[in-house]
Amino acid sequence: MQQRSLKNVLVSGGMGFIGSNFIRFMLKNNPDFSGRIVNLDVLTYAGNPANLADIDAAYQGSRYFFEQAGIGDRQIVENIFKKYEIDTVVHFAAESHVDRSILGPEGFIRSNIIGTYTLLEIARDCWASRRDVLFHHISTDEVYGSLGSEGRFTETSPYDPRSPYSASKASSDHLVMAWGSTYGFPVTLSNCSNNYGPCQFPEKLIPLSILNMIEGKPLPVYGDGKNIRDWIHVDDHNRAVWTILTKSPAGEKYNIGGENEWENIRLLHTLIDITARKAGLDTEKLRASVTFVKDRPGHDRRYAIDCSKIKKQLGWNQAVPFEEGLGRTVDWYLANPAWISAVRSGEYRNWIKRNYEER
Ligand code: NAD
Ligand code: DAU
Repeated sequence: MQQRSLKNVLVSGGMGFIGSNFIRFMLKNNPDFSGRIVNLDVLTYAGNPANLADIDAAYQGSRYFFEQAGIGDRQIVENIFKKYEIDTVVHFAAESHVDRSILGPEGFIRSNIIGTYTLLEIARDCWASRRDVLFHHISTDEVYGSLGSEGRFTETSPYDPRSPYSASKASSDHLVMAWGSTYGFPVTLSNCSNNYGPCQFPEKLIPLSILNMIEGKPLPVYGDGKNIRDWIHVDDHNRAVWTILTKSPAGEKYNIGGENEWENIRLLHTLIDITARKAGLDTEKLRASVTFVKDRPGHDRRYAIDCSKIKKQLGWNQAVPFEEGLGRTVDWYLANPAWISAVRSGEYRNWIKRNYEER
């Protein structure tokens, strides 16, 4: 099996949910990585520097470097590539929330499609004919569309995106794979199912529900609550990404999933039980606050990932049992009231001003 070694890794979108967990895993919990990470993030509403405050304190200027810029800022990013002698790109940066894409698709087209195109071109220019480098693109199972009650998405399932978000991610997947085929440019791609874990912005189902429980607010459920998602802990996703970076040949595409399908309403009831127990809240009152609301337009019914390829070819496996992972996630939000109030008040957006510009 191929074994790549990584020295200078550019992580785009590293202040977001999955990217920040990836950087922490790489620098703190991955003894097999001794290189440097450059976190390139423009800091949209979803980019929260507090997600990496510990990493910033421990590694900034030695193994960790934060650069605030958009992936579409060609000249700036090209300079960053050259300055840090980047040999690996892990491309997380994107607009990521389906509901926001329905309300306003433009930013999704700009960041997810044009941004990915620009980052690809910068890497292609800077790397020229080098083949010991890698551009890994992080994508979603949503590109495959919606399943009925049977079957799972494989790497050869046809693309059938149904929201502006998934259409923009599908476009970016096609660009990445086309750059590989046409230019012989070294790319890999992964399509992952729904992630959960610490530092997720409270617009997504699990953190929104946990925070609303703590704050005594209603718990909105779209439609009949019977849509199904395949949940995976963010650490399992990030270990899969590491496995691909180090072991995959260029040109390959992998599905990553939890093999863990839950109807939204059943998931919410389980989350209520866990949160009630840990936060000392009343289960019955929490159940009574579940509120069925108008469905998301074009709401995909079911996602389920067949991830046998990465298991068989690269030896990856999930390691976090779901209810344990949910419990740890609830613990994290309960242990971080300052993070929550900074996000709720918008104060988190001043973090850079306070911590960088005043240094
Ligand atoms: P997120 O919204 O939490 O974070 C996105 C990050 O990207 C933010 O820090 C934001 O500031 C940054 N960003 C956005 N546009 C940018 C731009 N133009 N230039 C530079 N930075 C920019 O997202 P997430 O949930 O962590 O998702 C990360 C990636 O994983 C996305 O590509 C998403 O499509 C994919 N993904 C997410 C999930 C999931 O369940 N969250 C599942 C599968 C795949
Ligand atoms: O499948 C991977 C995708 O998972 C990622 O590509 C996306 O970036 C990520 O946001 C996520 O998309 P979803 O739309 O599945 O996640 P969300 O948390 O928004 O919703 C999960 C399910 O819960 C979905 O069926 C909609 C429903 N929902 C969501 C919210 C926010 C509710 O019922 N109520 C809610 O308040």
